[in-house]
Amino acid sequence: MSELRHLINITDLSVEEIDHLIAVADDIIAHPEAYWDACAHKKLATLFFEPSTRTRLSFTAAMMELGGNVLGFDQAASSSTSKGESVSDTIVMACCYADIVAMRHPKEGAPFVGARHSTVPIINAGDGGHFHPTQTLTDLLTIHRKKGDFKGLTIGLCGDLKFGRTVHSLIEAMIRYEDIHFVMISPEELDLPSYIKEQLNKAGVDWREVSSLEEALPELDVLYMTRVQKERFFNEEDYIRLKDSFILNRAMLSTAKDDMIVMHPLPRVNEIAIDVDDDPRATYFYQALMGKYIRMALILFLLGIK
Ligand code: NCD
Repeated sequence: MSELRHLINITDLSVEEIDHLIAVADDIIAHPEAYWDACAHKKLATLFFEPSTRTRLSFTAAMMELGGNVLGFDQAASSSTSKGESVSDTIVMACCYADIVAMRHPKEGAPFVGARHSTVPIINAGDGGHFHPTQTLTDLLTIHRKKGDFKGLTIGLCGDLKFGRTVHSLIEAMIRYEDIHFVMISPEELDLPSYIKEQLNKAGVDWREVSSLEEALPELDVLYMTRVQKERFFNEEDYIRLKDSFILNRAMLSTAKDDMIVMHPLPRVNEIAIDVDDDPRATYFYQALMGKYIRMALILFLLGIK
């Protein structure tokens, strides 16, 4: 039997393993029919204690395209959590019925706790304002396919860097690659948590903080927009004051590089005007599609299927 692996933080995977997943995803895109039966008779449980569109649907589509089956729930209210069941008991139950679990939870660390009680691979599909490693794999596949090498890229991370779990995981992944430059664009109140800043400094990465998107735009190879995370705010007034801090529109793109890509994990609220959607640099819907392919590669990897 192969060793039981989970994906809780993106650093649970080595750089070589991430490069392998990207290569497998590339192969799946080129030869999807070769993977149609790869997960026949295997079951994925999607345990979503928090709302999701892309992550849950792309996990579901990924397992279906591998010939496997999917079971689960899409809100805590429809699970026994509403009766008071603990995360660890829910996971023990999922292990009775599924070969692999993707779990999203509003509490930071919940998938980590789940993994300690699990006999099958647990994938963190987002835990509170903490981490979102499979979004990062999606982002890395997207950047790889659009830009080739990661080396030398200047990446602007814009919006809610405090609660935005996708940027935390993306930073943790990218600081392990060579010659990466970051420009952090956020209101002061929504800047990066100190534990992420410490990691950037420890890794000796070139990074700086600015408060103007217009100022940062001309030098960027990748602009990664994020939504202000309403559900993590303690009071609505602060959310309303900060929610429209940055709005990218098509006119602003005139100062950006022709081959810059605009990414967003989605859902967007107001931070990218719809007139950007037709610009060739808009990459966020393509990015969502990549989420399916990289999750196919990840499911195969964690199940030990060659
Ligand atoms: C992100 C998330 O859930 O953290 N969405 C996603 O999974 N694609 C980003 C967000 O909700 O803003």
